[in-house]
Amino acid sequence: SEYTFRHKDLTSKLADPNRLRSKPDVKDLKFGKFFTDHMFKVFYHKQLGGWQKPIIIPFENISLHPAAKVLHYAIELFEGLKAYRGVDGKIRIFRPDLNMNRMNKSAYNSGLPTFDGYELIKCLNRLIQVDQEWVPHGEGSSLYIRPTLIGIDGTLGVAQSDSALLYTILCPVGEYFQGTTGTISLLADPRYTRAWPGGCGDQKMGSNYGPTFRVQRIATTKGRQQVLWLYGPDHQITEVGTMNIFMFYVGDDGEKVLATPPLNGLILPGVTRQSIIQLCEQWKEFRVEQRDITMNDVIKLKKKLELLEIFGSGTAAIISPVCSIEYLGELIEVPTTGHPFPLYKKIKDHLAAIQYGHIEHPWAQAI
Ligand code: COI
Repeated sequence: SEYTFRHKDLTSKLADPNRLRSKPDVKDLKFGKFFTDHMFKVFYHKQLGGWQKPIIIPFENISLHPAAKVLHYAIELFEGLKAYRGVDGKIRIFRPDLNMNRMNKSAYNSGLPTFDGYELIKCLNRLIQVDQEWVPHGEGSSLYIRPTLIGIDGTLGVAQSDSALLYTILCPVGEYFQGTTGTISLLADPRYTRAWPGGCGDQKMGSNYGPTFRVQRIATTKGRQQVLWLYGPDHQITEVGTMNIFMFYVGDDGEKVLATPPLNGLILPGVTRQSIIQLCEQWKEFRVEQRDITMNDVIKLKKKLELLEIFGSGTAAIISPVCSIEYLGELIEVPTTGHPFPLYKKIKDHLAAIQYGHIEHPWAQAI
């Protein structure tokens, strides 16, 4: 149909049993390295009336015209969400509705066709069922789901694409930052900018990620794991690597505060970010604020010994505690992991309890 593809039209062509891949050991699950046996695909062709029928097929290469717009003008967007094998054996997918809303926004802004997100969720559930043996056992591991939408018109005109391919691949994954102590150190350099007002930093487009590796390389050279992205003359902290950022501190009135930058166009509206805000607001143990945070705020809190924790949040790593920030030649140590009952850990454990089915919760939907 013109407006959406439909789950009721989904057909599956399963891989030949002797062509199934062997499953890697959980300890070898480097992020995004292994793929399951099947994939989901649906084409959009304006000339043929829009969305075509969705299919599940054995995992395969895709073939594109060399002029395909995705390859030249980065007409591309993606999503990341996860399915978890619960303690009861059920497989649950975490808040897919939020990813579908965000995906449709990115599609609209890229001039790519939108669709009914609920139809894609039903198709993805089927794909995960087909490859259910690939959902790893054991907490800390999960199945990463990567819906992708690309413009495939084979014409070099700088214009919207009249044809598109939406596909989804699946990866069994373990912990995102492997071989680290679990904390990350950051480079904050105001010369580098990830996003700006009126830009597209709040969309999950591939074009937001490609240009960051130069800066990531500079951070790595300095012995820092990730980039802390600053913005503006007051050096606002915006995101860390590919993650949203949170700061936990003691406020002026002595009350504890969890703060994260607001969705002002520079910030990716993360599903983990939103979940953390909602959980902490329900707990009512401290204030939760969406507000601008500057490097000066961080330094002042640190001097007063009122800086408690800084951590990143995202679907891939869930929560990443920060141990230090290199800023204008100084190393600011952050005592994130130095407390007996750190907040980042409490949040991480609570999310895990929902994701792995220790707690029944509407955010984790059995497939
Ligand atoms: C996340 O889930 O934190 C990400 O955005 C990472 C992804 C781009 C691999």
